Amino acid sequence: MPLTQSDKADGIKAMYLEVLEGLQASPKRLPSKFFYDETGSRLFDAICELDEYYLTRTELSIMDACMEEICAAIGPRAMLIEYGSGSSEKIRRILDAPNDIRVYVPIDISCRFLQESAARIARRYPHIEVRPVCADFSRPFSLPHPRIATQTKTVYFPGSTIGNFHPDEAVAFLKNMAEIIGPGSSLIIGVDLQKEQDILHAAYNDARGITARFNLNQLVRFNRELGSDFDLRRFEHQALYNPQKGRVEMHIVSTDNQTVHINGATIPFRKGETIWTESSYKYTVEGFRKLAARAGFEPVTVWCDAQHFFSIHHLRVTR
Ligand code: AVI
Repeated sequence: MPLTQSDKADGIKAMYLEVLEGLQASPKRLPSKFFYDETGSRLFDAICELDEYYLTRTELSIMDACMEEICAAIGPRAMLIEYGSGSSEKIRRILDAPNDIRVYVPIDISCRFLQESAARIARRYPHIEVRPVCADFSRPFSLPHPRIATQTKTVYFPGSTIGNFHPDEAVAFLKNMAEIIGPGSSLIIGVDLQKEQDILHAAYNDARGITARFNLNQLVRFNRELGSDFDLRRFEHQALYNPQKGRVEMHIVSTDNQTVHINGATIPFRKGETIWTESSYKYTVEGFRKLAARAGFEPVTVWCDAQHFFSIHHLRVTR
């Protein structure tokens, strides 16, 4: 369903309140969902192609090697629900493999992007009922009622996006997912693994500066959508690995003492002060299984690459 002017106004207002709350907090922070406007989504796709960003190609190589088992895990007469579907690239590998998927439900916050890619999928796989849901999947939402009958439900949540939640939030999020899909349903989830710091540092500080543009694009977005006056020449990208917490922390650093205005509010910045824009947690296989168990999921299988860089877990909601 297309967005009305009033939906858009509600969205801008909600974004303004969240941005203001984050920038008035100490330390300053922003929720990572604001990365993904149209430009941000395209920059993220470019990140996934970078040599340094091993996550995407490693996950794809695991999928290619284990596709038969992944399709078996999805089950018979399946409804496949993809959280954060983006351009739906990964799902095409699954849909192209022998499977018994009857209904595909892509869920994404970037509505136009979602509609376009859902229409592409529907054209390419006319035997599958495609029911896109434009939603912020970190908040409660309902699944559509498809016309085609299904027997199993599987959530597909690739890309290690779960790593962008703090562990307690990840548990709450997975609990909510378990409630939506119900006992006996499956989750197939990509989870990045702990590894040498140099590899992590390069992945989030790429030589071409695409990750920096992705991070700073939020400020461009706020200037356009909220009428703020961030001066892009006076902010910088920073990404550091925190070994105690097992996470990469991404920040935007103010290179000067300065003041930013957003719709009547004034936000002061000290030189060197940062806005914490994202955490990307890296797990061990056991560590992630323990976290998932707190949300009511039991492990079925895990697939990893030979270097143990990335994992794809098959988990099931306990009955
Ligand atoms: C979406 N998410 C898993 C990415 C990550 O690696 O945490 C987002 C990202 N941030 C910087 N580069 C990529």
